[in-house]
Amino acid sequence: MCGIAGYIGYKAAAPVLLAALRKLEYRGYDSAGIAVLEPDGRLSVHKAKGELSVLEKRLKNASLFGTLGIAHTRWATHGEPSDINSHPHTNMEGNVAVVHNGIIENYAAIKLWLENRNVKFQSDTDTEVIAHLVTYYLKEEESRPDIKDENVLFNAVRTALSKLEGSYALAVCSSLFPEQIIAARKDCPLVVGLGQNEYFLASDIPAMLEHTREVLFLEDNELAVLCRNNAALYSTDNDRIERKVSHVEWDAGAAEKSGYPHFMLKEIHEQPGAIANTLRPRLCRDAAGAPLDIGFEDYGVKLDFANIERITLTACGTAAHAALIGKGAFEYFARLSVAMEIASEFRYCNPVLGEKDLVIVVSQSGETADTLAAMRLAKSRGAKILAITNVVGSTLAREAGSVLYTYAGPEIAVASTKAFTSQLVCLYLLALKAAKERGVMDSDNFRAALNALDKIPEGVKTALSALEAVQRFAARQYNKNKVFFMGRQFDYATAMESALKLKEINYTHSEAFAAGELKHGPIALVDNGTLVVALATQRALFDKLVSNIREVTSRGAASVAITWQGEAEKLFSKVCDEVFALPPVPDAFSPLLSIVPAQLFAYYCAIQRGNNPDKPRNLAKSVTVE
Ligand code: G6P
Repeated sequence: MCGIAGYIGYKAAAPVLLAALRKLEYRGYDSAGIAVLEPDGRLSVHKAKGELSVLEKRLKNASLFGTLGIAHTRWATHGEPSDINSHPHTNMEGNVAVVHNGIIENYAAIKLWLENRNVKFQSDTDTEVIAHLVTYYLKEEESRPDIKDENVLFNAVRTALSKLEGSYALAVCSSLFPEQIIAARKDCPLVVGLGQNEYFLASDIPAMLEHTREVLFLEDNELAVLCRNNAALYSTDNDRIERKVSHVEWDAGAAEKSGYPHFMLKEIHEQPGAIANTLRPRLCRDAAGAPLDIGFEDYGVKLDFANIERITLTACGTAAHAALIGKGAFEYFARLSVAMEIASEFRYCNPVLGEKDLVIVVSQSGETADTLAAMRLAKSRGAKILAITNVVGSTLAREAGSVLYTYAGPEIAVASTKAFTSQLVCLYLLALKAAKERGVMDSDNFRAALNALDKIPEGVKTALSALEAVQRFAARQYNKNKVFFMGRQFDYATAMESALKLKEINYTHSEAFAAGELKHGPIALVDNGTLVVALATQRALFDKLVSNIREVTSRGAASVAITWQGEAEKLFSKVCDEVFALPPVPDAFSPLLSIVPAQLFAYYCAIQRGNNPDKPRNLAKSVTVE
């Protein structure tokens, strides 16, 4: 959601900034813009509604030579997507430019205050107030006799920030101060990249990986001053902050498509590796290599499950579906009662929490606004917090205290795939660890479960081999106007995630139903334009599901089952038009495999329809505003 890039150094800034914006495209955007400080002292600003290519076309004749600039991809919140509402926003003199991610909640009051001081606004955005407010305080600063030139812009931004309510990651540059970019963050991510006599700024690491792996993560209420030969962090009270430089392990190629037509397809295929990377370093093995135990302690995660009375899992979107499966896993393996609360609800429901509670917060990005708010609320009530996240240095990772990382590598496609299955791995490991510590699972069953988990990466590889069959099926079914996913127990949660994938990228009206609920309403919607996808992995409930499938096919629906190879495949072939069969694993681990054909189905439906699965309309990868 909105991407920010900044560059100061010795190279032409425009190509560096445009390449960075390309890497931030995955966050979702509807317009883009750039401001470059030109050698003749002009701030050259260019903005365009639409894809980055529209801006690039406009820049063809712009001849930008400057070595300092800021850039932005905008995801509209205040004001429709348009050239004027795109960032950067400037002051009336055109000598101060601002890019911003987040929402300035009190912008209307500030706008009025500025208008009363004869400021004329051009856009409908909340961001524009920042450009004018900084200008207002620049004039105040400049009138101070004692002020050093190098501090003027910094002080003006700092004072402007003190008037803002809401969330922001922002960057400011000015032709009056041609050797500086000032950046700041509150509740939206921002990273400074350190080069040799060049410095980078971005909302996310992939935007700078091509140039540097040494980064400084800004924390809330911090500012950064980027000059050509150094970058320094400050608090809003003007105290210098010494932050350890973080070295990013991701290689630049991890954020490239590597020959795949889309990031989503690449990330679906990366799941065996992502699952193995998340799982295997945490398995302690015997001399023969068989998994014996789970070793979280090496990772600094110490949980005393015997003394935890309640667990609440909280998350948004796909991560919430992983959390729902996690709830099932804790109940199934550890016989612990667990709640799963959508973070946007949890943060406002005044939850009953205390010291005996563990709140597990799941987020790929570690930056989702609602998820962070839920985590902060739980923390303030004294609950223990454990984060499961994919992004080292993310706000969630830094604030949670205990973190279990998923090692999925950067996930670029908006529709989450490999992050989901990696989150599941962490949740299964936690549930099994809890089962052992609580003495509800004997060591044979515990080891058998670890053994089964250890084989999942190979199972996912086999599941991926259904690719062509799924592609053919999608070619026949992609334009169904209703697709219902149904299942029971673990399959119900997988059905929810499957329906979300199809909604996100194929824009199909798809819903998930607990198969037993069908008769209580949803069956009224079924007709011969409906496709029903039966998630069929819960062995004890096969007969019930077969009846449910008959109920929908007899009303004209087309049907497909996702089930196990062997007897189950034969059983469901008798009642369904198509079956995708998976290598058998225990019921409880089924979502790790059964989601794969559903991900591929959504992907190929989107391709058939001509949608770009990596950049679905209206959606953002990282929802950093409420
Ligand atoms: C957005 C993304 C989803 C993601 C959700 C939660 O809606 O489009 O793919 O599941 O946010 O994101 P998080 O980073 O917290 O897992």
